[in-house]
Amino acid sequence: MSSVLTIRGGVPLTGRVTVRGAKNLVPKAMVAALLGNEPSVLRNVPEIKDVEVVTSLLQLHGVTVEKDPLTGDLTLDPTNAKTASHTAIDAHAGDSRIPILLCGPLIHAIGEAFIPDLGGCKIGDRPIDYHLNVLRQFGAVVEKRPGGIHISAPGGLKGAKISLPYPSVGATEQVLLSATRAEGITELSGAATEPEIVDLIAVLQKMGAIISVQTDRTIRIEGVPDLGGYNHRALSDRNESASWASAALVTRGDIFVEGATQRDMMTFLNTYRKVGGGMDIGDDGIRFYHKGGKLNPLVLETDVHPGFMTDWQQPLIVALTQAEGVSIVHETVYENRFGFTDALIRMGANIQVHRECLGSVPCRFGQRNFLHSAVISGPAQLTGTDIDVPDLRGGFSHLIAALAANGTSRVTGIDIINRGYERFTEKLAGLGADFDITAAE
Ligand code: EPU
Repeated sequence: MSSVLTIRGGVPLTGRVTVRGAKNLVPKAMVAALLGNEPSVLRNVPEIKDVEVVTSLLQLHGVTVEKDPLTGDLTLDPTNAKTASHTAIDAHAGDSRIPILLCGPLIHAIGEAFIPDLGGCKIGDRPIDYHLNVLRQFGAVVEKRPGGIHISAPGGLKGAKISLPYPSVGATEQVLLSATRAEGITELSGAATEPEIVDLIAVLQKMGAIISVQTDRTIRIEGVPDLGGYNHRALSDRNESASWASAALVTRGDIFVEGATQRDMMTFLNTYRKVGGGMDIGDDGIRFYHKGGKLNPLVLETDVHPGFMTDWQQPLIVALTQAEGVSIVHETVYENRFGFTDALIRMGANIQVHRECLGSVPCRFGQRNFLHSAVISGPAQLTGTDIDVPDLRGGFSHLIAALAANGTSRVTGIDIINRGYERFTEKLAGLGADFDITAAE
């Protein structure tokens, strides 16, 4: 049943939260287990919706997934992998974008894959053309069928020389998951190299894959006929950590984020410091806090790693509504990731969105009709309002705006936030937020 979160704003969030494995790695490591000929163990697994979706998709394909009741660690046994019924797979349509990554592993395991129409956050068109082109280059045959896509490879997958038109995270993962057991060598140029991708490479290397990453965004994979299992602790979720960091700034609070890792967040930490946020970096986490003075405006462009992540943009924009002066944010990864600013404007934020590239480098959205640059003038007094959560990161940003605002906000659609933020209401309660949850009428 859907719920309504009623938030009484104005309380600084203070205390400690724990962040576990990354939403953008864990489901992919689960899919990788399908490539092995023995069980794998994945540790530091968060309780989020995307993990549930992939668990049931793997189970439908005969993979046994056992969860340790104490630690939450997953043991995934692919030894009885089988074809699943299309109706059963179809029941998962619209839930997540992860199923597209099952293609390579399923073809290796059972010779074919059926992938339901994909869900995921509504932050642009989010096409899958790169994925399908990559699969075709490995020799796969892709057919559109009712409710999804059928993919087979009568001659098996063969290594290929592939060049991505844009360093897509998902398409890079598609290549990794398909190439490790393909016949021959694959060379991928224009690859994404996000920490979650490097962690997936670490998983595959534990299984027996041979993968090298070169400094020019080229990844070289020497196919091997068989892979074993892995035992891996997932890297921590740097997007969740950055979200709590922004929440500390927006609410004038002080949050220790256990699990936040400096190495994977360096670009975010530089920006946080420039805005005027306080931080103490420790071995087991990072304390983020408002130092009490003014916040500074800044000019920022999102980019692929090692640039400023697109997923950090939305919560940081809420902080920029509180900075003294004009900030400019140019979104270059997704064409439509500023929809969430409508609710902030209704709350009193001063934000204009523009079609032009307001950044140093014109991006691929500049000559098209996309509102992908934002100008934010602050500081603005935010006032509580009714909000319907649009997408994962935008939704979390609305929550932190409501937590900082004067008065009461009624937030609906909060189930979307469970896709990527583990037990977020428990965490908010632990940080002293003033809210309650009721069933929607
Ligand atoms: N793109 C295409 N065609 C494709 C694939 C991508 O045009 O076939 C475009 C996209 O439309 C987008 C750009 O390429 O404009 C980058 O997309 P990418 O493939 O890198 O994104 P993704 O793999 O679908 C992952 C994360 C996103 C994160 C992006 C960028 C997962 C499950 N999702 O998406 O995370 O924003 O990489 O780092 O790993 C989130 O966590 O809220 C989230 C959206």
